[in-house]
Amino acid sequence: MKTSTPTIRLASILDRPELDRFATEVVPGVYGPLVSIDYAEQTVANWWMDTLDPAIRARRVLVAVDDDLVVGMAEVDRLGDDPVLWKLYVDERFRSRGLGARLLQSVVDGLPKGSKRLLLEHIAANTNAARFYEREGFEVLRVDEASDPRVSLVWRSLTLQPPADKMAKHVSTMRDEAVAEAGLLGEIARWLTAGRKTRHVIDIGCGLGTMSALLAAETGAMVTAVDESESMLEETMWTARTSGVSSQVDTVKLDISKPWDPSVLPPADLVWASSSIHHLADEVGALTRIRTLLKPHGRLALAEGGLATRMLPFDLGHGRPGLETRIQLAAEHRFMTMRGELAEPVEPGEGWPSKLAKAGYWRIESRSFLVDIPSPLSGDLRRVIASRLEHTSKHLRDYLPDDDLAALTDLTDPESPHFVAKREDTYLLEARTVHVAGPGN
Ligand SMILES: C[S@@+](CC[C@H](N)C(=O)[O-])C[C@H]1O[C@@H](n2cnc3c(N)ncnc32)[C@H](O)[C@@H]1O
Repeated sequence: MKTSTPTIRLASILDRPELDRFATEVVPGVYGPLVSIDYAEQTVANWWMDTLDPAIRARRVLVAVDDDLVVGMAEVDRLGDDPVLWKLYVDERFRSRGLGARLLQSVVDGLPKGSKRLLLEHIAANTNAARFYEREGFEVLRVDEASDPRVSLVWRSLTLQPPADKMAKHVSTMRDEAVAEAGLLGEIARWLTAGRKTRHVIDIGCGLGTMSALLAAETGAMVTAVDESESMLEETMWTARTSGVSSQVDTVKLDISKPWDPSVLPPADLVWASSSIHHLADEVGALTRIRTLLKPHGRLALAEGGLATRMLPFDLGHGRPGLETRIQLAAEHRFMTMRGELAEPVEPGEGWPSKLAKAGYWRIESRSFLVDIPSPLSGDLRRVIASRLEHTSKHLRDYLPDDDLAALTDLTDPESPHFVAKREDTYLLEARTVHVAGPGN
């Protein structure tokens, strides 16, 4: 084992011969034993020889050099909005000495300011890489299955910015939910606005802004997206930009559990509040304040309640049957704990229509909408299911029995034969209830 400390620097085109030697000596040693020498040689030929010169010229390649020899390298690029690490290799003699981590740190240090995450992929058979990236904080995003499972691509992401607030860590789960609910939200948006003049919409507790963007697109109205979380407001603007409606969406940072200055929110034809009011101790108080935001003919659409999502067959043939029922009970238990821990006293429970009536609303009407996507699901939705279950196992760690947590670990492990995304029999069935009400007089 070498004991010197290699220097890390940007590669120049003069390093090309050394990089080629490094590729032919080191890369086959990584993939040969994992897949085959043919695969390894093809990787060098396709994945190295043609792509490297432009990457070096674009200052996207780093080399670790020891005694004029290349002993490690990394190549970054962009994929959509995100930086991606296409290559990170270290000479065997320098492994387990922190050179991989130093190269990775140099890559991260050189990324454009404001980058939110760093993506990468590795083949599933490369469990050393998986362990290394896991240790460095990369989480699995998805797995692109290949006919030979050894070369399925495991996509990972490293979050680069510290969470701006407590909601930031929920973004990926919320985006997954938004994918599953895209059709349902579109249906609700059309139902709420068909045949009605809608000039101004307020989205209370907007989250990622999925509904803000949909309502803006559906009606052409201005939408004010309200949230107490800065990171949710940033996500909302991202959603609006990628939906082509950013000129119609404005954001306001506001804690709706407290009275607010009425001038910050102009009156609305429609107030949409989905899964936000149940976070507040005094739900009726908040609904009463929200009522004052409505124009006389305006309406509040409160999306609260319904039926929790079902995705799995009752008997998975692995673990104890009825896993999803126990997940739901655990989630309700956790929800009660969350409400019990709110800073202010929680009002006695009653149904949403009664709370709306107490808050002074009238013409209260409730309707439920289904997400109903039967099996077999698309690859994207299967990955959504895997990531939702992964979130469930973290979120409900203290509420589920050990055998269910063990089953969830297998179901969410891409290397397990029980990995849920491999199943043909998953589905999505969920009901969301929307209570619509006028402001009364
Ligand atoms: C479960 S998410 C729902 C997001 C979105 N409406 C949806 O249905 O997907 C709850 C949202 O309410 C926001 N929220 C919670 N308490 C709030 C408060 N007191 N004031 C403003 N926003 C709040 C959270 O930051 C979060 O974005």
